Amino acid sequence: MKGKKYCVGFIGFGGIAQVCHIHGWKKLNDVEVIAVADPSEEAQRRAKEEFGIPMVFNDYRKLLEVEEIDIIDICAHNTLHFPATVDSLKAGKHVICEKPLAVSVKEVEGMIKASKQAGKKLMAAQHQRFRKESVVVKNMIDNGIFGEIYYAIAYALRRRSLPARPTFIKKELSGGGPMFDIGVHILDLTYWFMGCPKVHSVKGATYTKLAKRKDIKGLWGEWDRNTYDVEDFASGFIRFVDGRSISLTCSFLANMEKLEDFSTTLFGTEAGMRWPDGKIFTEKNGVLQDIEIKIETLPDVAPHHEEIKVFFECVKKDKEVPVKPEESLEVIKMLEGIYNSAKTGKEILF
Ligand SMILES: NC(=O)c1ccc[n+]([C@@H]2O[C@H](COP(=O)([O-])OP(=O)(O)OC[C@H]3O[C@@H](n4cnc5c(N)ncnc54)[C@H](O)[C@@H]3O)[C@@H](O)[C@H]2O)c1
Repeated sequence: MKGKKYCVGFIGFGGIAQVCHIHGWKKLNDVEVIAVADPSEEAQRRAKEEFGIPMVFNDYRKLLEVEEIDIIDICAHNTLHFPATVDSLKAGKHVICEKPLAVSVKEVEGMIKASKQAGKKLMAAQHQRFRKESVVVKNMIDNGIFGEIYYAIAYALRRRSLPARPTFIKKELSGGGPMFDIGVHILDLTYWFMGCPKVHSVKGATYTKLAKRKDIKGLWGEWDRNTYDVEDFASGFIRFVDGRSISLTCSFLANMEKLEDFSTTLFGTEAGMRWPDGKIFTEKNGVLQDIEIKIETLPDVAPHHEEIKVFFECVKKDKEVPVKPEESLEVIKMLEGIYNSAKTGKEILF
């Protein structure tokens, strides 16, 4: 047990760090955010002036030399997650890292190994699991309300919301397109709802049909069509070793009715539902029934803050993190499998 405050350092202090993570840490009494590593002058200025963070660095390796730092929060682009996490763990720090945990299976395996060798916590920031809609549904699943969930249709679809920054659309930074950015959220959630089975095989297809066209306008500003080099649409079919399966479809730009469909439809032997809606579909005594759950009556939760609070509790009390790195490994296996299947035209077996 430590008497002093726990110290946190950020690697990457852009959008998600400033809008969500920093406020989560600041809510915690026994935590102090003392350092930021980010090559952006603007990020460094904001860290100091707006958030009162005393130390700023261009190079994250310098930040890792700061002995007082106990926890690293990685909020840089996806392809930095692996080196920054491994270096942080080797420096004896606990790590919470934004999603996707990394951009390949090999990388996640390396991160898990480094975490075990260092005896330090590692968790992917899959905040969707911490939404009140998710917690309540997961409890119902665990209480058997749905029976066996044998199939799910997971959508992370947007009609015209393409994040225009290189962080999300240049492969060398993002590792992939909407599948890595938003697909990872709905897939991780669905996979968790289904009890995290082992992956058996994956088939997939990816497309870049709209993102390079000048006549297609996004709702989130202009992007560079020339350097855009990730998919704008991806779909996959995942089979688990126990025979259950998930269909996943993701897009930044899809010609569809709604502006967004971020949902997962669960098909169980006793009941089904479309998360995050609050209706459960079942049959009782020979009569079809729709049961409405009043999610809005539950206390509000800020999911990014909740994930940070829970991760910190695990560090303090030396408990297992709720988003286990081995679960994130299976999620990245599925996503990498979809890319590999799309490339080769073959089913990928694990
Ligand atoms: N969970 C969520 O809801 C959510 C939402 C948005 C983004 N994200 C994830 O968060 C991460 C960052 O996304 P963002 O929207 O904040 O992007 P961003 O581009 O706004 O911020 C990334 C920051 O990383 C910095 N950076 C670049 N190279 C660096 C280096 N070598 N060392 C340290 N910092 C470096 C950049 O200067 C920038 O300030 C991504 O992994 C993304 O997938 C998660």
